[in-house]
Amino acid sequence: MQVHVADHPLISHKLTKLRDERTDSPTFRRLADELVTLLAYEATRDVRVSPVDVKTPVAVAKGVQLTDPRPLVVPILRAGLGMLEGMQRLLPTAEVGFLGMVRNEETLEAVTYAERLPEDLTGRQCYVLDPMLATGGSLATAIDFLVKRGANHITAITLLAAPEGVARMEKELEGIDIPVNLVTAGLDEKLNELGYIVPGLGDAGDRLYGVVD
Ligand code: PRP
Ligand code: URA
Repeated sequence: MQVHVADHPLISHKLTKLRDERTDSPTFRRLADELVTLLAYEATRDVRVSPVDVKTPVAVAKGVQLTDPRPLVVPILRAGLGMLEGMQRLLPTAEVGFLGMVRNEETLEAVTYAERLPEDLTGRQCYVLDPMLATGGSLATAIDFLVKRGANHITAITLLAAPEGVARMEKELEGIDIPVNLVTAGLDEKLNELGYIVPGLGDAGDRLYGVVD
C-alpha cells in the first residue's frame, strides 16, 4: 500500500482546528469538508482519463476526459458521509456506493450493517472515504468488499491514520495484487487502550453528527 501523508500548510492548519476539542459540530463538518477537497486533489492524481479533442472558439485543442466506467466513491457510514460532498466537489460525475459499518467497541472489530454497492466493479477505480483509520478493521473490510467485486484500483482517503492501522492494512493487503493507496491528512502517534487514535480528534462520527447510544 502506498501511503501519502499530506504536507501542506493549509491542510495542517485545518487539521489543527479539527482536532481542537472546542470546535463545534458545524465548524467540524465544514473543516472536514474542506480537508477532503484538498486531499482529493492529491488522491485523484492517477484517476483514469482518456484523450479527447475539444473545439475552442479559436481552434481544436487536445484534452482529456474521465474514462468510463466512472470512478466509484464509497463513504463508510456514518462518519464517511461527512466527507462525501467534499469529494463530489472535485469528482461530480463519480457514482456513489455506500457501506455502513460500526466498530464493536469491545472487540474493536468492524460490523457491516448496510451495503449498497454495484454487484460488478470489474475494472473500476474506487475511492473509499472514512475519516479515521484506527485498528484498520473498517477499512480492511471495505476494501475486501470492493476487491471481491472486481475493483482494480483503490484509494482510501482519511483525515487521520494510526501506525497500527496502517500496519494491519499492509498485512491484509499482502495477497491482493491491485494497487491500493492511502491518502491522509495526518499520521498520528498510536492507538490508546480503547482503540482511539492518539492524539487524534476523538470520535469522528460523534463530532460530526452527535452522540448515538
Ligand atoms: C469510526 C470511524 C471508522 C472506524 C475506524 O467509526 O468512522 O469507520 O471507527 O476504526 P477502525 O479502524 O478501528 O475500524 P464508528 O465505528 O465509530 O462508527 P460511526 O462512523 O457510525 O461513528
Ligand atoms: N474511530 C474514531 O472515530 N476515532 C478514533 O480515534 C478511532 C476510531
